[in-house]
Amino acid sequence: MRTIHSLKELRTILRGYRRQGKTIGLVPTMGNLHEGHISLVRKASEAADIVVTSIFVNPMQFGAGEDLETYPRTLAEDQEQLEAAGNTLVFAPAASEVYPEGLSQQTQVVVPEVSDGHCGASRPGHFEGVATVVTMLFNMVQPDFAVFGEKDFQQLAVIRKMVRDLMIPVEVVGAPTVRESDGLAKSSRNGYLSAEERKLAPVVYLTLQQTAEKLAEGRTDFQTLEQDARKNLVAAGLRPDYFNIVSSRTLKPATPEDSDITLLVAAFLGTTRLIDNLSISR
Ligand code: PAJ
Repeated sequence: MRTIHSLKELRTILRGYRRQGKTIGLVPTMGNLHEGHISLVRKASEAADIVVTSIFVNPMQFGAGEDLETYPRTLAEDQEQLEAAGNTLVFAPAASEVYPEGLSQQTQVVVPEVSDGHCGASRPGHFEGVATVVTMLFNMVQPDFAVFGEKDFQQLAVIRKMVRDLMIPVEVVGAPTVRESDGLAKSSRNGYLSAEERKLAPVVYLTLQQTAEKLAEGRTDFQTLEQDARKNLVAAGLRPDYFNIVSSRTLKPATPEDSDITLLVAAFLGTTRLIDNLSISR
């Protein structure tokens, strides 16, 4: 497995693989890899000859006062895990390689509607940053397909719409959320939790499950269910940012006619923001 920092070198190597008729799968990440990320790499390596994992903490998707500076950077450990998972190339560019003219000069990709609510409402500019860097990674790597986690449900929806709208010739593949044994979705940000907070964290997934059960029973009083879920999180010591019951397709508030429903949640535990989601069909 090789690690490449320069775009020029990446392009040269990938050109060689493409000439040999090899298929390329891309797994975009911000590093500090855990089993969730590694499951995407394994999925990619099942379908592609060459797997490229990008590791880039993208400054454009972080807002003022967010954790850009403190976001964990653990390249050596990441490389070990990737090697074991069947990865071919690590692409770990510096910010100056990705944004040579600086962020303020950067052309941006804006994906309307699906970017609007939920995390998009709480983190202005976040999905523009994600859509822009993912477009750039697609152009740098030119993969046949790219794998993204359902853990970031809205992000996946934004990328799917972007690829459709801009006719980007990359297949977007979704992969299920990998969880700890107590249900907490694996996340690089879980490392910020104190031992005490870590004990409380499973309530996020528990609340999703309890609410999903009520929906499966046929309840359609979505606003009451959302309020109850928020109260449940508050009672456990969390500060909910949102708990929204939406149509899985549009991410707009669910209606009783919707058969595919997704529950989206973001909540603060201390200063750590946790997100999770659960989809049901009924
Ligand atoms: P990051 O948070 O590092 O996540 C990289 C990929 O891993 C995303 O597709 C995310 O959905 C997936 N992932 C994270 N936790 C997961 C889990 N527990 N189970 C399954 N998949 C999981 O998401 C980003 O980086 C960035 O926004 C990025 C797309 C790389 C653009 O900068």
